[in-house]
Amino acid sequence: MRTVYVNGEYLPENEAKISIFDRGFLMADGVYEVTSVLDGKLIDFDGHARRLERSLGELDMQHPEDLPNLLEIHRELVRLNEIEEGLVYLQITRGAPADRDFAFPDPETTTPTVVLFTQNKPGLANSPAAQKGIKVISIEDQRWARRDIKTVQLLFPSMGKMMAKAAGADDAWMVEDGAVTEGTSNNAYIIKNNTIITRHLGNEILHGITRAAVLRFAQEAQMKVEERSFTIAEAQDADEAFITSASTFVMPVVEIDGTSVGAGTPGPVAARLREIYLDESRKLAV
Ligand code: PDD
Repeated sequence: MRTVYVNGEYLPENEAKISIFDRGFLMADGVYEVTSVLDGKLIDFDGHARRLERSLGELDMQHPEDLPNLLEIHRELVRLNEIEEGLVYLQITRGAPADRDFAFPDPETTTPTVVLFTQNKPGLANSPAAQKGIKVISIEDQRWARRDIKTVQLLFPSMGKMMAKAAGADDAWMVEDGAVTEGTSNNAYIIKNNTIITRHLGNEILHGITRAAVLRFAQEAQMKVEERSFTIAEAQDADEAFITSASTFVMPVVEIDGTSVGAGTPGPVAARLREIYLDESRKLAV
């Protein structure tokens, strides 16, 4: 049984409790982070911690008392649960006031709820999906307009995954005003004539921590990067396509809406980026 962290305590998962009035539960009033673990170490912890602080700030949410100890809590959970490869999930909500109310509770009396748990995923780095590539469909992006804040309101992304499943695909790329925003839980990229193209940052997408690292490594390796939006037609006509996230690293996309991308098999640029990303981020893991 897993040991999880709830508001300062390490507990067996079946003893961990949250109030029914918690605003995360009632209002999706909470933010989260997912950090991957390789070789028992945290990948890009600083990047996730910085984005978490930004998400809290954008929602005027109090910084919980445990924030300065976050690295230690992550490490302790990895140790207690003996995670070699997997993920650490962290969620902070605005807490549990005495009753349901749309207005934010007084931060003097209602403190944030902090929950962390691990997910054991042996074989995360050597994933067979990365050898095969994944298939995506396109769907209309019907999420709210502040996708740069990593909130727990994930209903539309969940629905998107189900639409993909129903269509026999692995994931969905969301489209707004004719341009791809991102995947349901990942950033989207295409490669044309050796140039890596991915949507520019803005409120329309989550500022992926893996995205930032991959683009930095790509530039260090003298690869060309263009940050701009692209259409599904352009993606179908690309040489390669891929996604990035903390849980998939760099994952090739071989089919979009039933049309093969390039040769319909994972391409060399995505494979190289995956290798560079895994090598470099392992060196920097904490
Ligand atoms: N999802 N875009 C969206 C909408 C995401 O939910 C995620 C991450 C990303 C990639 O961000 P990062 O590289 O920092 O993981 C982009 C996580 C993994 C999840 O919800 O499980």
